[in-house]
Amino acid sequence: MNSFSQKLIKWYQNNKRDLPWRKTNDAYLIWLSEIILQQTRVEQGLAYYLKFASAFPTVQHLAKAENEEVMKLWQGLGYYSRARNLHTTAKIIVSKYKGKFPGNHVDILSLKGIGDYTAAAIASFAYNQPYAVVDGNVYRVLARVYGIDTPIDSSQGKKEFGLLANELISEKHPAIHNQAIMEFGAIQCKPVSPNCEDCPLIAMCFAHQHKSVSSFPVKSKTTKVRNRYFNYIVLNQKRLVVINKRINKDIWTNLYDFPVIETEKEQTEDELFSSSEWKRFFGKNRFNVTSITKANKHILSHQHIYARFIEIECLSPIKKICPNSAILINQEEIQKYAVPRLVELYLINKEKQLST
Ligand code: ADE
Repeated sequence: MNSFSQKLIKWYQNNKRDLPWRKTNDAYLIWLSEIILQQTRVEQGLAYYLKFASAFPTVQHLAKAENEEVMKLWQGLGYYSRARNLHTTAKIIVSKYKGKFPGNHVDILSLKGIGDYTAAAIASFAYNQPYAVVDGNVYRVLARVYGIDTPIDSSQGKKEFGLLANELISEKHPAIHNQAIMEFGAIQCKPVSPNCEDCPLIAMCFAHQHKSVSSFPVKSKTTKVRNRYFNYIVLNQKRLVVINKRINKDIWTNLYDFPVIETEKEQTEDELFSSSEWKRFFGKNRFNVTSITKANKHILSHQHIYARFIEIECLSPIKKICPNSAILINQEEIQKYAVPRLVELYLINKEKQLST
């Protein structure tokens, strides 16, 4: 075994966190954990993993579930296409592979929602096959230790880091090697303030020797961010409220929110209330604006959403104001629907205010 792998594995044995998906070789549970962990940090991912594993202990359970149930459990994690792919792929594993998770790397990679990283994670963790995982942690560790300045978001970088990772993986202990390098990146060789003083790789670390740890890894692009301004119109009448299913190809497809007037620029309340969109929305109907939240910023990978919630008491019949595509429900029923995190936070806040 090369000394890089040896040192990492030794470090891992002394420092690893106790995590449930590391105690199983069930490919289904490993897949579940990896899809969740692509979305979030271990601390938050753990709760989601336990919820999913308990609701759907086998791939058959997941395949049989209603999509709404899967989306509701995923609520708050973001990137909802991952949850849809998870569900679709579970059904394919049941129908095409008789419920047995494929054990061959090519078959694993052919599944919807499974790319190079997840296929390598499943092949190594569940079947102990020597496929190297290359996630953000691995890029960072390799870039620093080996002093590679090829941008990690370039195709050349992906190739180079992939080749090196596969050269370094322990043939004898691929599963533990992969866990070790990711864990090392997550808790020792961190993006900011890595623990270099107490690092088993210090003698072989290019970046440390060149006092340039914070210059690695290199990225070529800065992601362009689009600002969006969502004016949510929360139509109420007695105990009724209007919600909206997001069916378009946009963020949060198939989740529920409220009717919205979106603008490209920030608008004052007066600008919004005198806009043609607002007038078109309400027509000649009568209503009161009962409250407006301030615009909360919600950060997605390529978008910043500024969302404010405008509470409306409908004076004309709510059905006349309600857009054709919208759904009229009792207010307490909203708990059953999968909503984006920013809507969930708004509902939690509202609940708090009502109870004080
Ligand atoms: N992040 C992604 N996969 C992980 C794993 N198996 N353990 C800990 N963190 C992870």
